[in-house]
Amino acid sequence: MQSPEHIAEPTERLLAPVVGATEQAFDMTLRPKRLEEFVGQKKLRENLSIFIGAAKMRSEPLEHVLLYGSPGLGKTTLAHIIGSELGAKVRTTSGPALERVGDIASILTNLEKGDILFIDEIHRMNKVIEEVLYPAMEEYALDIVIGKGPSARTVRLDLPPFTLIGATTRLSLLSSPLRDRFGATYHLDFYSAGELTSIIKRSASILGTDLPEEAAALVASRSRGTPRIANRLLKRVRDFADVRANGRIDASTATDALGMLEIDAHGLDATDRAILQTIIEKFGGGPVGVQTIAAATSEEIDTLELVHEPYLLKLGFIDRTPRGRVATEHAYRHLGIPFPSQQRIA
Ligand SMILES: Nc1ncnc2c1ncn2[C@@H]1O[C@H](COP(=O)(O)OP(=O)(O)OP(=O)(O)O)[C@@H](O)[C@H]1O
Ligand SMILES: [Mg+2]
Repeated sequence: MQSPEHIAEPTERLLAPVVGATEQAFDMTLRPKRLEEFVGQKKLRENLSIFIGAAKMRSEPLEHVLLYGSPGLGKTTLAHIIGSELGAKVRTTSGPALERVGDIASILTNLEKGDILFIDEIHRMNKVIEEVLYPAMEEYALDIVIGKGPSARTVRLDLPPFTLIGATTRLSLLSSPLRDRFGATYHLDFYSAGELTSIIKRSASILGTDLPEEAAALVASRSRGTPRIANRLLKRVRDFADVRANGRIDASTATDALGMLEIDAHGLDATDRAILQTIIEKFGGGPVGVQTIAAATSEEIDTLELVHEPYLLKLGFIDRTPRGRVATEHAYRHLGIPFPSQQRIA
């Protein structure tokens, strides 16, 4: 049996966009392997299925694919699913891991016909690497500069036909020449409560946990539209049930577990509430810039922009204006703070 300390980890880990080593194994277990197991994103799934089917029928490599969306929505999962649907090998790297031209050159020259090269966090790739990719993506060619100064010359190597899959949480940081070289771009959206319920039930059954519908729906409603968070919450609820309820999960155990994690009925955590409170109490409801909010709440700007802001916007708790973020009436109500009768003009 686990000790209660085991479940009392800091809540921010629940929302962390970074996945630790232990979680990676957990992620792998729960990751759907085929397109038909992938829950939600219906339109994307349909489009992708046609795109893959057509490439298979013509025995051509799939055109390059760009996947974008908030952390934990399934980009990496989809990249691997595309690989298994095509029966292709997936080579994985990431923008920040590609430091020198040699890094990308050695990956490209080791590819075999039909392989998939998956570049995660592709927005963090440096310019020099990006330029090596242009001819590689367009003409399956690698241009290598030999020598230095006036005697330098370029040698062109042929590459086998391959598919590049890029994933990013920040589409706006991608240069347009790079974006233009993808044959298809797919956006992953937040999931509905019903879709998250299915994901949680599927995960529970893989983990061998008995999970009543009601408890699954409860966890789903607090998962911020994000499968990764849904799975993390499920794990926490399961730990809690092991320690406090002889492993039995019902709606009341799930409620208690979620209460302990300080996740409220809308799925907001302590940081989300601190952000809203800061905008309202320190800045009169806004508008206030992201940098200022970050400084006032001691949060990283990146985490604020990637994790907290998109969800608060989605719930309609904040609005974006040219002069900064504004707390909406909804946010005041959620925190139990009276909304100023004199309407602010945003
Ligand atoms: N549509 C889905 N159906 C079922 N499970 C899913 C789905 N999408 C994601 N998951 C689960 O959520 C976890 C996180 O997904 P994934 O790692 O693919 O997200 P990501 O978009 O790559 O995130 P990041 O931006 O942080 O890299 C996966 O391990 C998988 O178990
Ligand atoms: Mg990923």
